[in-house]
Amino acid sequence: MYKVNLLTRDGATIAFDAEPEETLLAAAERANIYPPSSCRQGGCGVCRVTAVSGDITLDAYSEAALSESARAAGETLLCCAHAQSDVTLHAPYDQQAVAFAPEPVRRATLVALEPAGASAMRLQLQYQDDPEHGRAAQFLAGQFAELELPGAGVKRAYSIASTPNWDGALEFLVRLQPQGAFSTYLRERAAPGDELIVHGPKGQFTLDDASLAPRWFVCGGTGLAPALSMLRQMAEFADARACRLFFGVNRVEEVFARDAIDALQAALPQLSVTLCVWKPESDWRGFTGTPAEAMAQALAGTTEQPDIYVCGPPALIDAVTRAAAGGAGRVFCEQFAPA
Ligand code: FES
Repeated sequence: MYKVNLLTRDGATIAFDAEPEETLLAAAERANIYPPSSCRQGGCGVCRVTAVSGDITLDAYSEAALSESARAAGETLLCCAHAQSDVTLHAPYDQQAVAFAPEPVRRATLVALEPAGASAMRLQLQYQDDPEHGRAAQFLAGQFAELELPGAGVKRAYSIASTPNWDGALEFLVRLQPQGAFSTYLRERAAPGDELIVHGPKGQFTLDDASLAPRWFVCGGTGLAPALSMLRQMAEFADARACRLFFGVNRVEEVFARDAIDALQAALPQLSVTLCVWKPESDWRGFTGTPAEAMAQALAGTTEQPDIYVCGPPALIDAVTRAAAGGAGRVFCEQFAPA
């Protein structure tokens, strides 16, 4: 049995024991400690932490969850790692992101759904009363949940676009995939009053409240959802720190959430927004190119060292990480699995 110390971003230490034959995630959960995780089999990267000391072996995992360079930098996956000695790990999230009870599974009612641009939908859900959890929607801005269609065996992860609240309201932005089972449900059958099962909250993509650096959010498509949640939370707290949003889609007709962005600009006068279209086929007065390119240009013209929060497909995460590599500050990311 080895000792594992998980040091969180806000300086807390969470300790548990691990047998060499169990994964670090299983060992933590045996001690009723639930660090952020999702797929539990090395595919999503949600359970990624950095090993600072000790010996670890890793089961097979996907390169999308842990790149070679990330592994070389000491990053590892709790769901695949086995301790071979006492181990110290650094988590990229605060203690609040670690649960000390199993993940909630709750029933919710679909209250409204509407198109969000040409290729996404906006869903509003309402938690049903629950003897264990009450009605509140408790999560950290930036986290995601898995939505399940009861009886259909279909479960998909989507970031929450709204903020935590006592009323049990949740908003999601869902990209419609041509053949996706959940997308087909949304396109063909979904109607207000439907019941969905919500697994979560999950994930470690959360604001670093201890940092005073400006916050830059770089989002592709429905990767806007966690940034909306974080920025809405900043608006609720009247947070005055500098912030920028770089939001991009592929085609002009895919731009969505302008009303939500306008409301944020009214509530956060310091927020600067760059709307980006990669390949505009018609008149477009915003930035032409990707949000990573817009961010790189902005970075080249400033001495600011922002905390960069990036959410979207792997190519966007890579491009932002490369652009920020020249010492721009820290990069926090939430990667959407390739469709
Ligand atoms: S939980 Fe998905 S990689 Fe570990």
